[in-house]
Amino acid sequence: MKTHQHPEIIQGGMGVNTSSYVLANRVSSLGQLGTLSGTILEGVLVHELQNGDKGGHIRRALSTFPFPNISESVIKKFYVEGGAPKDIPIKRVQMFNTDPPDLLISTVICANYAYVWLAKEGHKNPVSINYLEKVAMPHIYAITGAMLADVDFITMGAGIPLQIPEVMNSIFESKVAQYRIPVIGTSITSFTMTFDTQKFFGEKLNIKKIPKFIPIISSNLLATMLIQKLPPGSIYGFVVEEPTAGGHNAPPRNKLSYGEKDYVDYKKLSELGLPFWIGGGYATPGALNRAIQIGAEGIQVGSIFALSEESGMNPSIRKEVRRLGFRGELKIRTDMRISPTGFPFKVIELPGTISEANVYESRSRICNIGGLVSLYEKSDGKIGRRCAAEPIDKFLNKGGKIEETIGRGCLCNGLFSTASKNSDFEPMVVTIGDDVRFLQKLMTNENSDYNVREVISYLLGAL
Ligand SMILES: Cc1cc2nc3c(=O)[nH]c(=O)nc-3n(C[C@H](O)[C@H](O)[C@H](O)COP(=O)(O)O)c2cc1C
Repeated sequence: MKTHQHPEIIQGGMGVNTSSYVLANRVSSLGQLGTLSGTILEGVLVHELQNGDKGGHIRRALSTFPFPNISESVIKKFYVEGGAPKDIPIKRVQMFNTDPPDLLISTVICANYAYVWLAKEGHKNPVSINYLEKVAMPHIYAITGAMLADVDFITMGAGIPLQIPEVMNSIFESKVAQYRIPVIGTSITSFTMTFDTQKFFGEKLNIKKIPKFIPIISSNLLATMLIQKLPPGSIYGFVVEEPTAGGHNAPPRNKLSYGEKDYVDYKKLSELGLPFWIGGGYATPGALNRAIQIGAEGIQVGSIFALSEESGMNPSIRKEVRRLGFRGELKIRTDMRISPTGFPFKVIELPGTISEANVYESRSRICNIGGLVSLYEKSDGKIGRRCAAEPIDKFLNKGGKIEETIGRGCLCNGLFSTASKNSDFEPMVVTIGDDVRFLQKLMTNENSDYNVREVISYLLGAL
């Protein structure tokens, strides 16, 4: 008999800003685990500040930030009262490099602090934040901001997040936090980012606790490896993502298509003794029950929340996706090429988005956000950044190979557009899980909407 020590439902982290603080707050306040997307939150913050911070939410959150000189420097730089005129492009936050300036560090910390604070506002339930391991340069600063706001959980996938427990410990103890990032090179193979919080803030940090850590995995092997390599107690539990999940997926074992070997052996996973949640097409009451039967605490669901009223996805796209999904006409493909990470990425085939060949071909490549860059060793021995979706000549000049560029799309710009947080005209990229049959249960007609409360009651219906 399940004791309900844990939530049955984790609302998955969905970047960029689909898992907004509004969504996470609502889910957590209703007793399930809401997750804020931590992906490039600094870009979201500077966009909202220049849009006039409608409702004053960011400034309200930052008025509680323990180092007012830092939060004020960010507000002074980016806030525009009443919003910036529409014909002036919005100032972007600087792209990350291995030696980020203080203003960028401050912006990352303030963004993570403010949005976690807002996700926790008005209720006492736990809140989680999700990061992609691959978006590595900001981790030490982002986690500092989230921990200052007392975030309860961190989930992380899209890579092997072995370094996160040590990062959290260092921040908690006001020691120097470090994050090692691979460098493509011959004499340099990694670079370690360091953050001395005491030096930066001028005093020790007052942090209440170390968040519970939930790696996102898709194999028994990774779960076992994480447990074996990390000190006991470092991992709270796991989210297992099956290949049907929205966003990035683990590559198929046979490199071409998913088969039996790409599914986790849940009996073996249970034997590890840690709680786990299963995601990827589990958004039905029956699937929740099934997950519990096979030993899970519950499910992680994304798509069902991404299309709800409280999601941060652009409302007109969300409506169109719901409409097509309700009619059974949504076309979703697992695109093996589009993500510069090299991981498969689920894409909805929607007119006007980069899923369409003509939109993809006519777009000029640009790299001005830089979330998914890889570090590489330059000929002068310094470290540079490159992305397989950047302009091809630039990528080749940086030592990249032409075959790496084929079919790659700029997920940074595409996802910022899908979140209505891009002031440049950039086509969207829209991701969703394979299974959206929940729409027929939640919508009364093809144009209707639904909210988080309805999602939770629907999913818990069979318990
Ligand atoms: C729009 C969207 C964006 C996503 N972005 C992320 C992300 O940034 N990080 C992550 O770990 N998972 C991401 N996911 C995966 C979800 O967190 C969740 O595990 C998955 O959606 C579960 O499968 P479901 O969509 O079938 O419910 C994303 C999913 C969707 C639908």
